[in-house]
Amino acid sequence: MKFAGKVILITGASAGIGAATAIHFSQLGASLALAGRNQENLNKVASACNSNSTPLILLAELTNENETKELLDKTLAHFGRLDVLINNAAVDVLVSIETTTLEDFDRAMDVNVRSVYHLTKLAVPHLIKTKGNIVNISSITGLRAFAGALPYCMSKAALDHFTRYIISFLKTLCTALHLASKQVRVNGVNPGVIVTNFQINGGMTKEDYKTFIKYAEKTHPLGRPGQPEEVAKVIAFLASDDASFITGASVPVDGGKHALCP
Ligand SMILES: NC(=O)c1ccc[n+]([C@@H]2O[C@H](COP(=O)([O-])OP(=O)(O)OC[C@H]3O[C@@H](n4cnc5c(N)ncnc54)[C@H](OP(=O)(O)O)[C@@H]3O)[C@@H](O)[C@H]2O)c1
Repeated sequence: MKFAGKVILITGASAGIGAATAIHFSQLGASLALAGRNQENLNKVASACNSNSTPLILLAELTNENETKELLDKTLAHFGRLDVLINNAAVDVLVSIETTTLEDFDRAMDVNVRSVYHLTKLAVPHLIKTKGNIVNISSITGLRAFAGALPYCMSKAALDHFTRYIISFLKTLCTALHLASKQVRVNGVNPGVIVTNFQINGGMTKEDYKTFIKYAEKTHPLGRPGQPEEVAKVIAFLASDDASFITGASVPVDGGKHALCP
C-alpha cells in the first residue's frame, strides 16, 4: 500500500482511532489534513506522524456547517486535491429508550450522521476528479443492537446504510453504487470495543469503563478488546488500491463479535 502523492482528510484525528489512522497513513507516505477540536492533541498527533509529510491541522466543530465547509476548502487550498475522505469523528450517547431525551437523539445524529452527510456531499466532486474513495468509521453497533446506546446505534446503522446507499434496485440513489460508476469507492469499518477514550468522553465513569473493558474479553471471540492501530490498518487497506474491487462494504473489525448471538 502506497499513498505517496495522495491527500487524505481525516475527521476526529486528534484522538483514538483517528490519531492511529493518521500516524499509519503518514508511514505509508500520505499527505494529511487532520481535523479535530483539540489543537494540543492535533499537534501531538502531527508530531507523531512521519516527518516526511507535515500534516495540515484544521480545527472544526463538525456540527457547525460553515466550519465543516471550511475544513474541506482549506484542505483543497493547501493541497489542491483530495484523494481519500475518512469520516471518523463521532460521539457516544449512552442512553436507552427510557432515559433518552430528544437532545440525545439530535446530538448523536448531528455529529455521527448529519456532518458526515454534509462533508461527503461537499467532498464528492473532488473525489470524482481523483477517482478517490471514502471510508466511514461506523461501529459493530451499526450491525447489531447494543444495550444502553440507542441513538448511537441508530446513528451508526444510518451511517452503514449511507455507505451502501443502497446496493439494490434503487441504483441511482445509491452512494456506493452511484459513485462506483465514477470509480469512487465508498466503504466502512465496524469496530468492536476499541481501547480509546470514546466511552469515557460519552459519559461513562472510569470505574464503569474498567468493567466494560474486562467484559469485552467475554463478548469478543478473540478474548480481548481491540487497539486503534488494528482498525487503522483495515482503514488504510480499504482506502488503498489493494482494495480496488471493494465498494459498499461494511467490514467488522471486532474480534468476531458480530458473529455471536448476544
Ligand atoms: N472506541 C470504540 O470502542 C469504538 C467502537 C466502535 C466504533 N468506534 C468509532 O470510532 C470512531 C473514533 O472513535 P474513537 O474511539 O477514536 O473516539 P475518541 O477517542 O473519543 O475520538 C473521537 C474524535 O472525534 C472528534 N469529535 C467528536 N465530536 C466532534 C465534533 N462535534 N466536531 C469535531 N470533531 C469531533 C474528537 O475531536 P476532539 O477530541 O478534538 O474534540 C476526536 O478526535 C468513531 O466514529 C466511533 O464511533 C469506536
